[in-house]
Parts: sequence; structure tokens; C-alpha cells
Amino acid sequence: MAVHSVTEAAASGASRPGRGCPLSYRTGRAAFDGPPSVQVDSLWVAGGLYGNVFALERLCTLFAAERGSKALVFNGDFHWFDIDPEDFAAIERGVCAHAATRGNVEAELACPETGAGCGCAYPDWVGEDTVARSNRMIERLRATAQGFPDARRRLAALPMTALAAVGGARVGIVHGDADSLAGWGFSQEALGSSEGVRAAERAFDAAGVSVFASSHSCLPVLQGFAGARALINNGAAGMPNFARSRHGLATRISVDPSPAALYRMRLGAVHVEAIAIDFDAQGWMRRFLAQWPAGSDAYASYFARISEGPSYRIEQALRPTGDVARVAA
Ligand SMILES: [Fe+2]
Repeated sequence: MAVHSVTEAAASGASRPGRGCPLSYRTGRAAFDGPPSVQVDSLWVAGGLYGNVFALERLCTLFAAERGSKALVFNGDFHWFDIDPEDFAAIERGVCAHAATRGNVEAELACPETGAGCGCAYPDWVGEDTVARSNRMIERLRATAQGFPDARRRLAALPMTALAAVGGARVGIVHGDADSLAGWGFSQEALGSSEGVRAAERAFDAAGVSVFASSHSCLPVLQGFAGARALINNGAAGMPNFARSRHGLATRISVDPSPAALYRMRLGAVHVEAIAIDFDAQGWMRRFLAQWPAGSDAYASYFARISEGPSYRIEQALRPTGDVARVAA
């Protein structure tokens, strides 16, 4: 799928719920101007928690063990499956303790855009049935969120992007891509084309960052770019990301490499890594089924992935480039 098709899909789908990209999702050229809001030795970025309270617990435990100056940023879509008010509240409590940026799910909970549906801006390669199910899922989640007016106000105030500094490297944190909250330009699919690579290079140049940390498109990628730059998409913190696996993934960017990294790239003094969030998979499956039993929209769209992982393989995620020193995991 060529990148221009992704863009056209978003543009042509502007009036189709779940396909379009609302204007309010546009990031704006000045998003990465100015000083970083976070300056640490170790930065964790976790997108796509998707309401998985077991993944939240495990992520927080792993992050707590991190030494030195550190920050954890939830870069959106921390809610999704958590239609049970108890789980919704647990996710809110956990995320509130750290920094966060908005995902399309949070945007659609806080300030629903007319006709945006789930706000995912799904490209052509995602089937119509999946889009329709997601649009119905956000309605269920909105009903839960109605009981949490303070949370909705907080979600509405979250920024769409953040800028961090780690060991002298500027890190742009986004949910979708550099242009849009729900952009698919930083998906593994888009980055697999030469057009996608060129578009990402333009985004690096415009933002003046050496690392982009993204999420949203649900499959992970760590791709190197000319000029000692790298883009890391953590896929999902709260769902399996690789075939026959059950763990989620978080991004870790640090001056010290972690022995636990699944894969990494080194950019000078900075290590860009994927860390497994090995949550209680059986406990999560029970929790998911209690909220989304067989026959439900989320079950139809996600249960196979939750129980078996996607068909994507770990070798497909790591994509080194000539001038970025690859460090085998
Ligand atoms: Fe998203």
C-alpha cells in the first residue's frame, strides 16, 4: 500500500466514520518547536494500552525498577476495551501518575467529532467490517466515560504531542504520525515503501528531532534513517504484537542499554529499544471476555490477536539503516 493511497484514503473518507481524519487532529508545524518538556536519562513511551489493566500493572512495575532520571509517557489510546467502570477508573488512576498525550480514542471520548466514529482514520487495507465494529465500540466506551466527567475534562486537556530530550537526542512523541493524531505515516506498512521513507525523512527534517516515538497503527517497527535517526512505533502496550506471543511492547530510549530489550538501535550515546510488557495473559483474557464476550464487536475484531498474536514476526519490526549502528538483541 503506497503512502499516497493512505493520505487519499484519509482525505476521501473525511465524511465516513472511522475513515476520516478530523481537522482538530492536525498536529501543526510548531509542535516540536521550543525546549523539551521532559529531560531524562531514560524515557519510556507506551501507546496502545487499550484498557488492559494487567499490562498497566506490569508496565508500572518494570518502569519502577528503572534507575536514574526517568519519565513514562502514555502516548495515547490508553482506553479502548475498558468499558467496565472499574477498569476505566483503574486506567485513569494509573495514567494520571505519569505524563500522557492524547490518542484518537481519548479525543473521541473527551470531545467527540461529528462523523469521526472511533477517530482511527483507518486506511484502505483495513476492512469495512472492522471499521464498523470500532465505531460501535467507541459508542460503548463513551457511555462508560459519561460517568467520569473529571476524566473527560482531563483527557480534553491532554496535548497531542510531546518533545523530550534523552542524552542530547531530541525525541518527538506522537500518537499517529508527525502530521496527525490518527496518521498512518509511521505505520510499518507505510514505512515499508520508498515513498513512506521519504515522507518520514521530511517529517524528521521539519521537526528537528533524531527520534520519533509513535503508536496507533497497532504493529511495531524500529526503523533507521540517514543522519543517525530512528523511528520507533511500539505497536501496542496492551496487546500481543508478534506471532505466537502474548506480551505487549513499550519503547525505551535511554543512555544505558537494557539487557531486557527485545531489539534495539544505537544512535550515538542513545539506545532506542523495544521492551516486552509480559503481563498476566490469562488474567487479561478473562478480563477482556468479561467485558467483550463471544459475539461482541471487540471479540470479533481482537480476540484472535489477544489469544494468538498477529501474523507479524519480530524480524519484520527491526529495520536498520546503513549509518545507524545495529546492536543485536
Ligand atoms: Fe490510535
